[in-house]
Amino acid sequence: MRAAVFHQHGPCDSIQVEEFPEPEIGANDVLIRVRAASINGFDPMIVQGTTQLKTPLPMIPGGDCAGEIVRAGSQVTGWKEGDAVLPYPIVPGEGMTGEVRMGVCSEYTRFPAGNLIAIPDGVSFEDAACLPIAYGTAWRLVEERARISAGEKVLILGATGGVGTCLVQLCKAKGAHVIACGSSAAKLEQLSTLGADEVINTSSADIVEEVWSRHGKPRVFGASGGVDVVVNYIGGETWVPALKTLCRGGRMVTCGATAGFEPRTDIRYIWSFELSIIGSNGWTPEDQKQLLLAVRDGQVKPIIDRVVRLEETGQAIQDLFDRKVFGKILVVP
Ligand SMILES: NC(=O)c1ccc[n+]([C@@H]2O[C@H](COP(=O)([O-])OP(=O)(O)OC[C@H]3O[C@@H](n4cnc5c(N)ncnc54)[C@H](OP(=O)(O)O)[C@@H]3O)[C@@H](O)[C@H]2O)c1
Repeated sequence: MRAAVFHQHGPCDSIQVEEFPEPEIGANDVLIRVRAASINGFDPMIVQGTTQLKTPLPMIPGGDCAGEIVRAGSQVTGWKEGDAVLPYPIVPGEGMTGEVRMGVCSEYTRFPAGNLIAIPDGVSFEDAACLPIAYGTAWRLVEERARISAGEKVLILGATGGVGTCLVQLCKAKGAHVIACGSSAAKLEQLSTLGADEVINTSSADIVEEVWSRHGKPRVFGASGGVDVVVNYIGGETWVPALKTLCRGGRMVTCGATAGFEPRTDIRYIWSFELSIIGSNGWTPEDQKQLLLAVRDGQVKPIIDRVVRLEETGQAIQDLFDRKVFGKILVVP
């Protein structure tokens, strides 16, 4: 089969399309023809080798795919050839697809039948492929971890990415006041169109000054000023400024560290303002099913920047790293 492959960690343009052995399926597996795959924030990190994960080499990138079953193992029941599926990418005993198990930017891929989730009628392969990792993570973060409620002010850093564009939609649906951050005027316009109440251009403005001037400086006594929640999966140099934007009793929620996982902190803000730092990791298969229904019913719209060919996988991952993408980028083998 044709697959996008890298043989060593390094620059994204080292990814080449080549002939790769078609996956062998076990008795409880299915072989899926990949109809759309999506790129995520972790893909550049995996290709470049900047995580602590043990990625097998050679490696096919990509964790999310939607496709149809072409063959089922002898013990598989309840699924048949032609069924449209969106696999849950974390496989028991094998780990995360595209990180420590072979990725999906290829013509075919293998998943255990236990990981399959049916794509409902009315949801395209491309929309479905946007959902698991980015939208699933946003869903759990909003519903289970941050527990966003109506009227809360939510500041979202990196709102222009896969997780971010879903967060904007989910927080708005909860009735929150959304302040979305992005790094260019064009991206800010897209965030406003998506429903953000306010936007901040992080390449020209300081988030602390912007939040303080628009919403007041947070006060320990009197409990005025600031925002209720900051979603911060950027980390690095954004960590301390983000703490300074929170109101007394505010919550900082993180699910990642795009710009650095060992940021400087300032614990004076944490105790003085009684802040909570909340982690959010992954999502459940049930979350993924709920998301598919939300897309079918028009409550969530996958934001697709562009769809590229398998040969452009390396460039797509580089573009994500270079912050040239709004929402999701899809690979269609
Ligand atoms: N724990 C989990 O289960 C889980 C699951 C999914 C994702 N994540 C993590 O969540 C984060 C977001 O994932 P994603 O797929 O949404 O990524 P993404 O599509 O690349 O979006 C991230 C956004 O952050 C901004 N950004 C990128 N590099 C930056 C930098 N060096 N400094 C400041 N801002 C930067 C960009 O927006 P602007 O250019 O507009 O600023 C970009 O749109 C990643 O860290 C990822 O690893 C974790």
